[in-house]
Amino acid sequence: MAPRRVVILGATGSVGASAADVMRRHPDLFTPWAFVGHRNVARMQKLVEEFAPQHVVMTDPEAAQKLAAATGRHVQAGMEAAVALAGSDEAEIVVAAIVGAAGIPPTLAAVQAGKHVALANKECLVAAGRIFKEAAETSGAVILPVDSEHAAVHQLLAGVPRESVVRILLTASGGPFLHKPLAALAHVTPEEAVAHPNWEMGAKISVDSATMMNKALELIEARWLFDATPEMLGAVIHPQSVVHALVELADGSMLAQLAHPDMRAPVAYAMHPSPRLTTGIPRLDWTKADKLTFLPMDEERFPAMRLVRRVLQGPDAWAVGFNAANEEANAAFRARKIGFLDIVPIVARVLARMPEKDVRTLDEVWALDRLARAAAREEIARC
Ligand SMILES: NC(=O)c1ccc[n+]([C@@H]2O[C@H](COP(=O)([O-])OP(=O)(O)OC[C@H]3O[C@@H](n4cnc5c(N)ncnc54)[C@H](OP(=O)(O)O)[C@@H]3O)[C@@H](O)[C@H]2O)c1
Repeated sequence: MAPRRVVILGATGSVGASAADVMRRHPDLFTPWAFVGHRNVARMQKLVEEFAPQHVVMTDPEAAQKLAAATGRHVQAGMEAAVALAGSDEAEIVVAAIVGAAGIPPTLAAVQAGKHVALANKECLVAAGRIFKEAAETSGAVILPVDSEHAAVHQLLAGVPRESVVRILLTASGGPFLHKPLAALAHVTPEEAVAHPNWEMGAKISVDSATMMNKALELIEARWLFDATPEMLGAVIHPQSVVHALVELADGSMLAQLAHPDMRAPVAYAMHPSPRLTTGIPRLDWTKADKLTFLPMDEERFPAMRLVRRVLQGPDAWAVGFNAANEEANAAFRARKIGFLDIVPIVARVLARMPEKDVRTLDEVWALDRLARAAAREEIARC
């Protein structure tokens, strides 16, 4: 079979690097067709030199100009170009790894066009889960999750009758502040929050791991990916990040998926689930002593987990608000405008201002997103 043409949305990011590595190892299966970045010209230049994709987009026009000058090749500018390529007849696999709500339009274009979508961008399902689900049902698109926890659940559910599944538990490392005295959390810096103990990730998601907002967003994502009720979903702290998810069955059995924490494994699975691909990740070695520990979720330390239960029970607008307010508060913390402990209360206050409605169109999502961001900025200014 000819190698399949791959679009990487967010090629210049951390998940983009993992997807590029999977392609580097399997040129017989994947051909780099279109790479999309935003502003990181130096990183895209390296990728272009190595992979020579047919199409290159920088969604930031200035970055597109700089890249064209540096490489002497045609570079498209703007999000419209990314949307057109993701939904193009020629694209076969789309890796959706743009961070934030900006990733929604090109990913939706890929889903509407019936592509095989390896979905890293969690905001798509958090803010527009109903729209993505309906679009995939209509087009026949395959959406495979890249998040290590959801990729694990996807593997664990294979072949398990639906009615046998009682609970889906995502694991959380606990982030850099799992054991820090609660009183000291008020003074932690963005640099400390970004220093994740197990995973190397982009800055936004690293801060989300420290607040546990990342797990909260993942629970909303899991609801759409696995058609799960809020009661079926939970999270448990597992500091080693070796067990990625657990599925409890009716007979009391619990299934677990284990792998060294390295995004190349879930990215490879989402791009090519069967047969499994080699990834170069270190293998788990049980001839050496090792310890896997689990702790119950501490909702005093991580109030995001309490808040998300309300969101899971509530209308779609609350999930849009939860996501948008978190993006604003996360960015404000990284810009040192607010403290670490302000993030979740700001999201909670924005949530209280959101209307009670479900969403059917992206226009409705954007209107609610704008409402939530404006409210979040007011709340940030008050801190
Ligand atoms: N990293 C992980 O281990 C991991 C695991 C699970 C899920 N995820 C999810 O995957 C997504 C990507 O995460 P990441 O860690 O790879 O993030 P990242 O390293 O910060 O990369 C983000 C990518 O998005 C691009 N981008 C940023 N703003 C954009 C905009 N306004 N328009 C278009 N493109 C934009 C960036 O381009 P430039 O760099 O060129 O500006 C970059 O390519 C997130 O939704 C995250 O939650 C990540």
